[in-house]
Amino acid sequence: MSAGREIPVILRASELRVATDAVRAQGGSVGLVPTMGYLHEGHQSLVTRSANENDLTVVSIFVNPLQFAEGEDYGTYPRDLDRDRQMCTEAGAGLVFAPPTEEMYPQTPITTVAVQGLNAVLEGRFRPTHFDGVSTVVAKLFAMLGPGRAYFGEKDYQQLAIIRRMAADLSLPVEVVGCPTFREADGLAMSSRNVYLTAEERPVATVLWRSLQAGRDAVAGGSRDPGEVEAVMAAVLAAEPKASPDYAAVVHADTLERPDVLAGELRLLVAARLGRARLIDNIGVDCDRL
Ligand code: PAJ
Repeated sequence: MSAGREIPVILRASELRVATDAVRAQGGSVGLVPTMGYLHEGHQSLVTRSANENDLTVVSIFVNPLQFAEGEDYGTYPRDLDRDRQMCTEAGAGLVFAPPTEEMYPQTPITTVAVQGLNAVLEGRFRPTHFDGVSTVVAKLFAMLGPGRAYFGEKDYQQLAIIRRMAADLSLPVEVVGCPTFREADGLAMSSRNVYLTAEERPVATVLWRSLQAGRDAVAGGSRDPGEVEAVMAAVLAAEPKASPDYAAVVHADTLERPDVLAGELRLLVAARLGRARLIDNIGVDCDRL
């Protein structure tokens, strides 16, 4: 694809606003796909969905310092804007918004968004400041471009639940659309962080998917005890000596609370460290449709 045919990359919020205002002034709809870049087919599936449902799709690419803690991979997070721009163009986006850090945070924000409770469970136990960083930057992106719809992957299920709740609690005029997880042929959920995996670690990484399937099979086989299902998932993770599990959990799909007895729509979630990578994955199980 020739560079000249690629979609524009906008760096300034004021310029972005002009572009999105123009679409809305004509009665058009704007879809937003927030990302941190280093895109893969999972991201592209969100862009394609948005492009099918909106007149203009904006992909934001911003590695958000606010959602990384000290010692995490902010400095080394993979970046490739030229390739990302090409992938956004291919998937049908209209423009890329890639603000420099000082455009997003001209001063250190002392106003932040915290979706209490939901930000503290599961991933929140291992990354206590992470989700406040996510909800704050997503609120800012919503304010900067005023999308009618915003697209998020189920891959980051807790993030999706938090953004949905933030939009509801703050009456934000945006429809939050959840999109299915895109996987490699062997089940590994696509992630920008998969590049951290060595050749030896890569086959081991399917352990998250295998663990989730074992958990789903346990529920399908009649288990209604969350502890029992979690133990089944944990055993699969524990069988891979290279992987260090952080959690294997069963929660209600909406509240993310752990039920006493499994019923209705559930989410099974796992997290594990493997070499330099920290991997997460999850799957939905509906007890009423097994
Ligand atoms: P990032 O990890 O780049 O992901 C951007 C979006 O792509 C998220 O909504 C994520 O759930 C989705 N996604 C990632 N892998 C996917 C897969 N395999 N299948 C389907 N969707 C997938 O999530 C973030 O960035 C950030 O926290 C962000 C929301 C941009 C805020 O900074």
